[in-house]
Amino acid sequence: MPTIAITRAVSSSLGYCELTFIDRSQMDISKAIDQHKTYRNLLSSLGVELIELTSADDMPDAVFIEDTAVVLDEIAIITRPGVESRQNETQAVRECLRNFRPVNNIEEPATLEGGDILRIGKKLFAGLTGRTNLDGIRQLQLITANYGYQVIPVPVKGCLHLKTACTFIGNNTVLINPNWINPDIFSGFELIEIDPFEAWAANTLKIGNSLLIPAGNPKTGEILESRGFKPVEIEIGELQKAEAGLTCLSPVFEY
Ligand code: GLY
Repeated sequence: MPTIAITRAVSSSLGYCELTFIDRSQMDISKAIDQHKTYRNLLSSLGVELIELTSADDMPDAVFIEDTAVVLDEIAIITRPGVESRQNETQAVRECLRNFRPVNNIEEPATLEGGDILRIGKKLFAGLTGRTNLDGIRQLQLITANYGYQVIPVPVKGCLHLKTACTFIGNNTVLINPNWINPDIFSGFELIEIDPFEAWAANTLKIGNSLLIPAGNPKTGEILESRGFKPVEIEIGELQKAEAGLTCLSPVFEY
């Protein structure tokens, strides 16, 4: 079954993106575009089929397309982003995902962003953040219960999304920054803590047997290697000025 990733072009207004936990700094848009292209090429080299949606000036954060949808094996759920500036991003994503899955929607007053949803098998860990509220988590629960999913709310503090703080890296293992979430929530899983000086390292992207990690996290890379993983670094530093994570850059699913 082919693996598909939907990406969205870097908006020329990315410099006006939302920021939650870091200060704004000068952004080089052409460098951000190059890094996005490298990311796409890497996915393509791993056998992923890519679809790219266009962006627009009034969507500074549209490149972080994963926040607009939660794609499960059975259905896609179009989210309702927790900031107004991102709510018009969902329409094009809904149209696109209709080609692959029956589509459900998170409805007002709920808010929920894909970056807050970590799926491990039939468990959906749902970050409770400034972007995802309890209504959003309840709606996710109602929509997915029919398909046998268990939704587990996770308080998050200090970063943007749940997946800024942890990601599933395969082998029953979660890579985690314990400063931003309580590791106890993952009882039953193996945990690997990132190096404490590499706060961005917990957001990785697993594509098949490959584990992509953001460049600039050598100590966490060594920790992962010592535990039998073979991380592949990718540079997304310019996109990180907009609080990017590797996972935010596309919903990835099989079809
Ligand atoms: N800049 C990423 C976000 O706030 O959604």
